[in-house]
Amino acid sequence: MVIKKIGVLTAGGDAPGMNAAIRSVVRYALHKKLEVMGVFRGWWGLINEELKPFDHRSVSGIINLGGTILKTARCPEFKTEEGQQRAYHTVKKNALDGLVVIGGDGSFRGAHQFYKKYNVPCVGIPASIDNDINGIDETIGADTAINTALVAIDNIRDTATSMERIFVVEVMGRNSGYIALQVALAGGCEDVIIPERELNLESMCHGIVEGNIRGKISWIVVAAEGAAKAEDIAKKITEMTSLETRTVVLGHIQRGGRPTAFSRALALSLGQAAVDCLLRGEQTKAVGIKDSKIIAIDLETAIQKKDLRVEHFYNLVKVLI
Ligand code: ADP
Ligand code: F6P
Repeated sequence: MVIKKIGVLTAGGDAPGMNAAIRSVVRYALHKKLEVMGVFRGWWGLINEELKPFDHRSVSGIINLGGTILKTARCPEFKTEEGQQRAYHTVKKNALDGLVVIGGDGSFRGAHQFYKKYNVPCVGIPASIDNDINGIDETIGADTAINTALVAIDNIRDTATSMERIFVVEVMGRNSGYIALQVALAGGCEDVIIPERELNLESMCHGIVEGNIRGKISWIVVAAEGAAKAEDIAKKITEMTSLETRTVVLGHIQRGGRPTAFSRALALSLGQAAVDCLLRGEQTKAVGIKDSKIIAIDLETAIQKKDLRVEHFYNLVKVLI
């Protein structure tokens, strides 16, 4: 099949660097003499035919912006047969020969279903702060989110040391401890709670009390939201140690902001790789970075549960206190 016209959309949770990926897809596709349509609000835009032609100027001045100019949404309707049928109608009506889907594992699951049902070639670009796409090393946006959270941790450390306090800081990560682990390590935090490892509160509290005796004056526990709520952990620590605690929930602060150089460079490389994939006639792939190389893997592989291999970093956090 000759590819002449493609659509690009962002779906699921936004991630810093999505705009750089859109810019790359649009400009590289135009360079390859393709027509490009920007689809708004993810799968919702395909269902409701909210799309328009994009040119060079459509993606001007966005490389340094967080969020996504295409908007994004969680769209339960795309999980239904009727929703996908309407999306297919839009694809046909607008003569789209393929789609570039920028998003996380849910968006990729949608793309894979859509290809299986309607044979519309789909290439995924992994963008999610959770870094939860299987088969690749890192998603667009994860690096930015970690650095944003790290600024907060450093600030918290100032007050924690000054007032000799224990803090429990909750970071994002629905089913993934990636942000928590990276931030805990880079922030010199004393403990970390992630969904990939069982929580042992007794040993955590024992560590706090021991640290206290050794003269440790501040203590920061980082918790991935998918593993524990900061408020619950703080309460338990106070109950078990009689020490005062404070909590911080970083929340959506981690999703916004200027993408780091790494998030942008990755996004720009993957945008080009995704268009090349479609031009090669690939039907259902995800592009990504692995061992410093840009690769393309089956969407089917990309949507499997990722094994984060947390062992090394998890143990290191515990050893370096
Ligand atoms: P993310 O892509 O960030 O993981 P979601 O999990 O919310 O975000 O997925 C984004 C969207 O992809 C969903 O709102 C839905 O429209 C679509 N989607 C997710 N899973 C499926 C599925 N199994 N079948 C069809 N569409 C899906
Ligand atoms: O998937 C990215 C993510 O930021 C998760 O870390 C978080 O649990 C979730 O999205 C929050 O989703 P929402 O913005 O819909 O509340």
